[in-house]
Amino acid sequence: MNEQLTNEQRRSFILKAGSLLGVSVCAGSMAAFLNSCEKDENKIVTATGTVTVNVASETGLQTVGDGVKKTYDGYNANKPVIIVKTGVDTFMVFSAVCNHQQCIVSAPKATGSNIVCSFADNKCGHEAEFSPVTGVQTVGPNGGAASGGLTVIPSSYNASTKVLTITF
Ligand code: FES
Repeated sequence: MNEQLTNEQRRSFILKAGSLLGVSVCAGSMAAFLNSCEKDENKIVTATGTVTVNVASETGLQTVGDGVKKTYDGYNANKPVIIVKTGVDTFMVFSAVCNHQQCIVSAPKATGSNIVCSFADNKCGHEAEFSPVTGVQTVGPNGGAASGGLTVIPSSYNASTKVLTITF
């Protein structure tokens, strides 16, 4: 059973407990108290360092134009990254966080296809599209004005060992 309370459940519990005990706190003070609890819980910890990917064992990275979505605990604020094989011995790594409204983009669905911020995939996203080679936005949200490309995460590839090193 999941015993973690959501912020809304916690807020409701504290308010009910306070009223049962006859505690009278002004609305502003209570809001500040609740917000301070929530801020700690939502604090994002982003680690710096390197992660290595053994490309030889990644089935989604064998063909030029293919890509995968991966999450590395603690890195990129615990949000996924998109790794794309852009050439025989070249790769690009992007943060999967869309710069429009922070939905998570999907890896290319077919060899060479764009990265898409797809509502169908995440129940979030407005169909912006991004180049799998550069991360530049090629179609804006809802077909409108561009809102910015994907953040490039530095990486280097050793063709001899077939190891991709991502530097966060
Ligand atoms: S959040 Fe990606 S297009 Fe809106």
